[in-house]
Amino acid sequence: MKRKMPTGFCLLLGFALWGTGCDKKPLPELVSRAALAPTPPMGWNSWNKFQCAVSDSLIRQTADAMVANGMRDAGYLYVNIDDCWELPNREDGHLKADPAAFPEGIKGLADYVHSKGLKLGIYSDWGKATCQNKAGSYGFEATDAKDFADWGVDYLKYDNCNIPSLSEQEKSYQKMRDALAATGRPIVFSICTWEFKDWMPETGNLWRTGGDIHDEWGSMVGTIDNNELRTSYSHPGAWNDPDMLEVGNGGMTDIEYRTHFSLWAVMAAPLIAGNDLRTMSKETADIILNKEVIAVDQDPWGLQGVKVSDDGQGSSVYSKVIQGANSRAVALFNRSNLYASITAKWSDLGIASGPASVRDLWTHQDLGVFNDSYTVAVAGHGTVLLKIVSQAK
Ligand code: GLA
Repeated sequence: MKRKMPTGFCLLLGFALWGTGCDKKPLPELVSRAALAPTPPMGWNSWNKFQCAVSDSLIRQTADAMVANGMRDAGYLYVNIDDCWELPNREDGHLKADPAAFPEGIKGLADYVHSKGLKLGIYSDWGKATCQNKAGSYGFEATDAKDFADWGVDYLKYDNCNIPSLSEQEKSYQKMRDALAATGRPIVFSICTWEFKDWMPETGNLWRTGGDIHDEWGSMVGTIDNNELRTSYSHPGAWNDPDMLEVGNGGMTDIEYRTHFSLWAVMAAPLIAGNDLRTMSKETADIILNKEVIAVDQDPWGLQGVKVSDDGQGSSVYSKVIQGANSRAVALFNRSNLYASITAKWSDLGIASGPASVRDLWTHQDLGVFNDSYTVAVAGHGTVLLKIVSQAK
């Protein structure tokens, strides 16, 4: 039997590998999926902070805030409504926005969001009902995809509750993928099944690698560990999703939130803010708007970082190959409660021994040129995020 090659590998080499174990789908389809999310999607989603308290005014105010606070210009483009926008039952065979919360329906809202230079995301579920028992899309994939496209939706998160049978999962996601494609509107497709399956990179633009994140240290670190297991599947157009951000929701310290954001950046994770953007503190804004950290996440080479060392005591180093010769984004991550001295060794990063420049991406400071390694004291639950570029000839 012919070995199946990973899609990202096939994409890179294109027709040169046609018939050699690469995906049999026509290349243009793969390329267009890549074009929908060439770098990890960035935006905001209502669930982590608001759960079912979604409304037209919340979405408009959030869009306004994203323009005013610089998020849109920093790359956060999607304003995503999660569960509870829709009624529990279909009307005339169609999903219907709750008229009490969305008096103008979704189209009017999409027009508003678009007028701000942003994009609108929506949520549904491949089962008969969503996780909050609103109407699901099972059996109505083509109808719903067409409605989403007609309304001007740009992103669909597709959940996994109230499903008829797990054996239909793969087929159902493919059905929605194809229904979205058939509308002709570019719609980012976000798979939410709380675990990775190997059909996902050819089906969605992002897929959840674990259960729901909670605004708490242990949960956030757990999602990092789950996500890391899937590193090799991530590539432009198709991203591992450790779940949306909790930065600014109040359950972690700013040091922990910087760790959260640093690791999401190094893992090339989608950056979907989940806090109330209308009342965001300066400390929170400084985290999610740090352009040098965002640039690590959005690096055009689209490579997910990997853990390159772990001392078993809570100190670990993650390294992401970024564009430029011999360049790495490096996270020195301290899981313990106490300060720890953590060393990034060039040999672990895969760059030449000898001199390399080191820049701190949180403080925006060039720290100097160091030979073979760099050591720093990292606060408990903290992460130092560096850009290291080899100077070796
Ligand atoms: C699931 C998803 C969450 C959120 C809720 C909404 O739990 O994993 O991200 O969408 O459903 O009900």
